[in-house]
Amino acid sequence: MAPLSSEVQRSKRTLHLLVLLCFVVPCLTQPAAPSPAPTTLPLSPFNDRLDAAYIALQAWKHAITEDPKNLTADWCGPFVCNYTGVYCAAAPDDPHVLTVAGVDLNHGRIAGELPDHLGLLADVALIHLNSNRFCGTLPESMAHMRLLFELDVSNNLLSGAFPSFLTSLPSLKYLDLRFNAFDGELPAAVFGRELSLDAIFANNNRFNVSLTTASLTNSTASVIVLANTELAGCLPPTIGDMADTLVELVLLNTSISSCIPPEIGKLKKLKVLDLSRNELAGELPESVGDMESLEVLNVGHNMLSGVVPETVCELPRLRNLTVADNYFCGEPVSCLHHVPLRDDRMNCIPERPHQRSHEECIAFEHRPPVHCAADGCILLPP
Ligand SMILES: *[C@@H]1O[C@H](CO)[C@@H](O)[C@H](O)[C@H]1NC(C)=O
Ligand SMILES: *[C@@H]1O[C@H](CO)[C@@H](O)[C@H](O)[C@H]1NC(C)=O
Ligand SMILES: *[C@@H]1O[C@H](CO)[C@@H](O)[C@H](O)[C@H]1NC(C)=O
Ligand SMILES: *[C@@H]1O[C@H](CO)[C@@H](O)[C@H](O)[C@H]1NC(C)=O
Ligand SMILES: *[C@@H]1O[C@H](CO)[C@@H](O)[C@H](O)[C@H]1NC(C)=O
Ligand SMILES: *[C@@H]1O[C@H](CO)[C@@H](O)[C@H](O)[C@H]1NC(C)=O
Repeated sequence: MAPLSSEVQRSKRTLHLLVLLCFVVPCLTQPAAPSPAPTTLPLSPFNDRLDAAYIALQAWKHAITEDPKNLTADWCGPFVCNYTGVYCAAAPDDPHVLTVAGVDLNHGRIAGELPDHLGLLADVALIHLNSNRFCGTLPESMAHMRLLFELDVSNNLLSGAFPSFLTSLPSLKYLDLRFNAFDGELPAAVFGRELSLDAIFANNNRFNVSLTTASLTNSTASVIVLANTELAGCLPPTIGDMADTLVELVLLNTSISSCIPPEIGKLKKLKVLDLSRNELAGELPESVGDMESLEVLNVGHNMLSGVVPETVCELPRLRNLTVADNYFCGEPVSCLHHVPLRDDRMNCIPERPHQRSHEECIAFEHRPPVHCAADGCILLPP
């Protein structure tokens, strides 16, 4: 798996905790009184929204075929806020009304489908279904979840085309679809500024993304992980357009080919860059040395050649550099001195251990040189 940065995991956990705390509190204690009334009653456990949520959650329970941890065993009775994994809070548009704000069934190993009635959870902001065995697809009715901020359905058995309604959810910021069996095109709108997701995890599905439209580089997300996905084409120079926002880019094993465009150096906020296990050729651009926030760089398992730029090894925060399994022919000593963790095996670097055979390196030298065009794609000789 890609080094999905611990930072993202951490911030996600923190957010999760914060959100949960906010949600749990109204269930346990009395909500903040809107006016200094002498006797503040807890929010009523009966209202239309909770009634709708009851219908949704009962339908969901019926669509579940296996629940090995009995997480939904207590999903009985009309007061859904007491159900395991269901979190209630005052409705954002009406502080006097209790509503379902979150559902968290992470690591439940629950099998079943997600029923159409799910859309009745109209006020839900957070859905965490990580590591279950939900199959089928996400119901269209989820388009009603206008407050949905964080959707994590990773590590399930969901399939079919990308659920197109996701691109019109106005509050969605965090979308995690990884480790499912979705297929087909990942729509350009996922990276669009209208949706403006903050984190996109789509790795380990059967999506394909066409880089030729450069739609990906339109994104304002801080985290984009598309590992083990089919990205057709070359990295476009517009990659530099994500400079203001991008912190982590993982394109491991995505079939990207041709050269790394020098514009990548504009990504000065990027901390994690993983372009490993692709078909990248040409040299590692000097400009990578401008990426001053870079902590982890992995360009291993490509066909890169030339010398590893000294500026890269002198990056102040770089702590893990992988250039293994390429055809680099030189590595400045600064790489050995400055970078705490590095892997330079299987290249053609003189006097370094575990390199390719002399014959292999000579054979590579005799291949026709690669010419990179301005669009990052290889320029074919006339
Ligand atoms: C779930 O409930 C069933 C039936 O009541 C019981 O046999 C099983 O041990 C329970 N499993 C867990 C993990 O609590
Ligand atoms: C919810 O659960 C609490 C604690 O078990 C219980 O006291 C309360 O009566 C329940 N609320 C409703 C409306 O069932
Ligand atoms: C994307 O996948 C679909 C079906 O899986 C295929 O028909 C299409 O040609 C693919 N597009 C690209 C750009 O690879
Ligand atoms: C990039 O975003 C702009 C503005 O939102 C939009 O007009 C354009 O079509 C997008 N480009 C692609 C390739 O998606
Ligand atoms: C690379 O991604 C493809 C899907 O695009 C997948 O079938 C393959 O197993 C992946 N390879 C590795 C080494 O994970
Ligand atoms: C360093 O990077 C490599 C390749 O990305 C990864 O396999 C390894 O786990 C990383 N090591 C640490 C300590 O982060």
